[in-house]
Amino acid sequence: MSLLRTENVIMQFGGVVAVNDLNIDIKKGELAALIGPNGAGKTTAFNVITGVYTPTGGKVLFTPTDKSGATTEIDITGKKPDKITGMGVARTFQNIRLFKELTVLENVLVATHLNADYSFLSAMLRAPKARKGERQAKMDCEFLLERLGLIDLKNEKASSLPYGQQRHLEIARALATKPQLLLLDEPAAGMNPQETDELTDLIFKLKTDFDLTIFMIEHHMDLVMEISDHIYVLDFGCTIAKGTPDEVQNNPKVIEAYLGVDADVED
Ligand SMILES: Nc1ncnc2c1ncn2[C@@H]1O[C@H](COP(=O)(O)OP(=O)(O)OP(=O)(O)O)[C@@H](O)[C@H]1O
Ligand SMILES: [Mg+2]
Repeated sequence: MSLLRTENVIMQFGGVVAVNDLNIDIKKGELAALIGPNGAGKTTAFNVITGVYTPTGGKVLFTPTDKSGATTEIDITGKKPDKITGMGVARTFQNIRLFKELTVLENVLVATHLNADYSFLSAMLRAPKARKGERQAKMDCEFLLERLGLIDLKNEKASSLPYGQQRHLEIARALATKPQLLLLDEPAAGMNPQETDELTDLIFKLKTDFDLTIFMIEHHMDLVMEISDHIYVLDFGCTIAKGTPDEVQNNPKVIEAYLGVDADVED
């Protein structure tokens, strides 16, 4: 079953066509990757899916499962980012976006408020239901911090964390919104090979444990090839290849896009 589909999505900024006719179909439970050279349009595709931009053409369709287990395809094209998050799509950002002055725990708590079933007013008045809700939210966040290896740092300022741990915190914050689809924009950026290996294992485990579907932008090819079920390759906004890791790795168009040379030409 498709969880996320895009139909002929186009995103044009003035004369720049950042995404041109994007058709993706991500099945529930899979891990899909979006790769391509710098400036290919990958982050723009995520921005369209998450409502940061309304595409200049095409549709974004999301099929969440509700509490009763029923599924309905919803046209989320151009909906507000917080609405889309509320429906079950969470993301991390290529340029880390944490509340630098808040603690690690507070950064995750902020995200849970989207799902709170008590009102802001009752929280202000410290009504019993709100107090119980807050206690539960704190426990949920601490559980996530434990899973992301950050529990011992929960009272540290987010800005004091090394880069790699800030990326983990972004994932914890995304998970706090209870997503069905998790979009990761270069989760291993700035990480050394060992950290990248650990992150690869972690992403794979989180996918199973939280029953997630993952769509990931990454430049670390070993990570992408190891854990992706399907890969989409963008170049100048266009999808030049899609398929399994094996299919994509051996596709001459992909080799050419990455090396900037005709793959058939021997050196
Ligand atoms: N808000 C915007 N206004 C104008 N142009 C934009 C905007 N956002 C993106 N672009 C342009 O769209 C193109 C694609 O950018 P995008 O950030 O999506 O690439 P990317 O594949 O994520 O690259 P990278 O690997 O470097 O992160 C670039 O030419 C970029 O300059
Ligand atoms: Mg990008």
